[in-house]
Amino acid sequence: MSFELPELPYAYDALGPYMSKETLEYHHDKHHQAYVTNGNNLLKDSGLEGKTLEEIVKESFGKNAGLFNNAGQHYNHIHFWKWMKPNGGGKSIPGALAKAIDSDLGGYDKFRADFIAAGTTQFGSGWAWVAVKDGKLIISKTANGESPLVQGASPILGVDVWEHSYYIDYRNARPKYLEAFVDNLINWDYVLEMYEAATK
Ligand SMILES: [Fe+2]
Repeated sequence: MSFELPELPYAYDALGPYMSKETLEYHHDKHHQAYVTNGNNLLKDSGLEGKTLEEIVKESFGKNAGLFNNAGQHYNHIHFWKWMKPNGGGKSIPGALAKAIDSDLGGYDKFRADFIAAGTTQFGSGWAWVAVKDGKLIISKTANGESPLVQGASPILGVDVWEHSYYIDYRNARPKYLEAFVDNLINWDYVLEMYEAATK
């Protein structure tokens, strides 16, 4: 397969005031596009051309750093756009997912605190995650373009903590960005969709 930049699932100004049009224009049109372009160049003659994106991410990890970084970030961003929506976030979580958050992550308030802490304490560029591992939800963080996919888990929610995701809107205040993401942006329906795919 070759990589393609997906359209944003909402207008560029739809996530304001929590994530601006300017941030989305740079983040989607420049940063994500660069991962797609560079990934396609590095995919040529890599031996992984016929594989799915998830296979390319897993199989290039630890073996082909250039391809992994770009393919990993392509995978992460495809989902990141869908993990957000206007008027999202907060506690209106579909039943099956709310139940798993209660039993595996100690309830919504603990999830919120631990997820924000994971993103805040990721030193440098990376991501904070909720993933399914051995049938249970876990919270984790990764550096650069890594994700739970390369740690034997299935990501169901991730937040980009590279500066390109928040510096225009929040400057250095990464915790404020993470609070806005959790309280106002998360598309819980898409998180549920990934949760159901990971646990079926
Ligand atoms: Fe990003």
